[in-house]
Amino acid sequence: MVSAGVNFGVDLAQEIVELKRARHAVILAHNYQVPELQDVADYVGDSLGLSFQAAQTDAEVILFCGVHFMAETAKIINPTKTVILPDLGAGCSLSESCPPDKLAQFLQEHAEKNYYVIAYINCSAGVKALSDVICTSGNAEKIVRAAPPNRNILFVPDQNLGAWVIERTGRQMDLWQGNCYVHVEFTARSIGAIRAQHPGAPLVAHPECPYAVRLLADEVCSTEKMVTFCRESTAPEIIVATEAGMLHRLHKEIPDKNFIAGPTERCACAECRFMKMNTLEKAHRALLHLTPEITLPETLRQRAEAPILRMLELSKQ
Ligand code: 13P
Ligand code: SF4
Repeated sequence: MVSAGVNFGVDLAQEIVELKRARHAVILAHNYQVPELQDVADYVGDSLGLSFQAAQTDAEVILFCGVHFMAETAKIINPTKTVILPDLGAGCSLSESCPPDKLAQFLQEHAEKNYYVIAYINCSAGVKALSDVICTSGNAEKIVRAAPPNRNILFVPDQNLGAWVIERTGRQMDLWQGNCYVHVEFTARSIGAIRAQHPGAPLVAHPECPYAVRLLADEVCSTEKMVTFCRESTAPEIIVATEAGMLHRLHKEIPDKNFIAGPTERCACAECRFMKMNTLEKAHRALLHLTPEITLPETLRQRAEAPILRMLELSKQ
């Protein structure tokens, strides 16, 4: 039995599980979601893993516990499904830093460059539609290496991920000057301070972090690869420079190690206010009413789909 009443904790989680069955739904959650949402999800992972899950699910409804561009990507690649996002306001500062009209104007003004556009998945459908291929932090290196050798590359919207890929591949690219407001808060000083308290603890950092932090890191990788790195590391404690939600999955899956949230200049652990907009209550409401639903015009969807499919194909190879 499912009810419209507001419930809390275990009861609410149980109701979500029952509703999920009644709706033939699957719950996909990003690694930065609040612990309660990660715990009711069928799959928890990074943007790449979530895209594969969204593409191949046979569920009728996808409850996407993440931010808007992630749910929108799910709708683009699996359009017959009802895709719902607990809070439609869950955006992304990185995505916002590259509005489609600005990108279109830039491409027009630099038409002589005949850019091959590689877009980090953290962007809107409008930007995806203007791109040749999409990448995530998990496959960016591979996607850039596969780019046509004779073309100028424009990498949007994250300048830090783009710079990291240039370092890794040696391939020159022009970088859109966008960034993630959470990851740029990590500094060499804030990481140095926590390292002084935990000497010997390796540092794993997300490639959205600035150069000075990436330089200090023992490993720079996507959130999914962080789980693998931490599992395989022999160190008893590891400093993690990314959004703090990551620590729930690490503690849960690797209980014998200690994970330390990389502090920023302003706080002990970094939180993405957009990721944290989704709650158990909102997820319950979304499943109950099948809203807020992600919709987009079919022409836009088709144009945005092609570069995502190219990415998924390249990622399998
Ligand atoms: P991942 O794909 O590595 O999980 O990154 C997503 C993201 O939004 C990082 O801020
Ligand atoms: Fe966007 Fe940064 Fe939040 Fe990731 S952590 S969703 S890049 S604002």
